[in-house]
Amino acid sequence: MDIFAAIKERRSCRIFLPDPISKETIEKILEAAVWAPSAANNQPWEFIVILNNDIKKEIFSESERCRKDVFEKSGWKWIDRYRTPFLEEAPVIIAVVGDPQKTGADMFLKGGGLAYHHGCAAAIQNMLLAAHALGLGTLWFTLFDKEPLRKILTIPDEKDPLALICLGKAGADPVQTPRRGVQEKTSYLR
Ligand SMILES: Cc1cc2nc3c(=O)[nH]c(=O)nc-3n(C[C@H](O)[C@H](O)[C@H](O)COP(=O)(O)O)c2cc1C
Repeated sequence: MDIFAAIKERRSCRIFLPDPISKETIEKILEAAVWAPSAANNQPWEFIVILNNDIKKEIFSESERCRKDVFEKSGWKWIDRYRTPFLEEAPVIIAVVGDPQKTGADMFLKGGGLAYHHGCAAAIQNMLLAAHALGLGTLWFTLFDKEPLRKILTIPDEKDPLALICLGKAGADPVQTPRRGVQEKTSYLR
């Protein structure tokens, strides 16, 4: 698939079919992830592939607790309507865990120490595009509290769970989301 087509056509998927995804496919997607750029080539990512339904249930319950908490604090009506059944339904969830020690020279700069986030984000985007090229749907999910997620996935305190990537065959056409134009978002200094 042409890279520009993949970038433009990929959409977040929130309805998944239960069809299992082969280990070979999962590893193809993770192979795309590890070729992402990172500060000083520190490769600050680790991946936890979650196939176990009981663990997915725990993640779902925790996310629902979080959602209610955010609704109480924000009063945002869309959060109240937003449900997360895909956390139980997706055949695969990949947790992306960052290592704050692997953040590069920016740790010595004011406001720095975040390059590991950027590296992990690049790895995630590679995964989403690779999955799309393989005909699969994905969702980049972040509505969770880190502490409970660390407990569920037995992630040590010094590591930073950054995202959960739901992966599987799409069960419906994705919602089409618009974008603002390049002109509106770009300035040139000549
Ligand atoms: C950092 C980040 C966090 C996100 N967190 C969530 C999330 O918690 N739940 C969700 O449904 N979508 C989440 N998304 C997906 C966005 O809602 C989605 O990418 C955006 O609306 C654009 O739609 P598209 O992906 O279909 O183009 C997240 C995306 C990013 C990049």
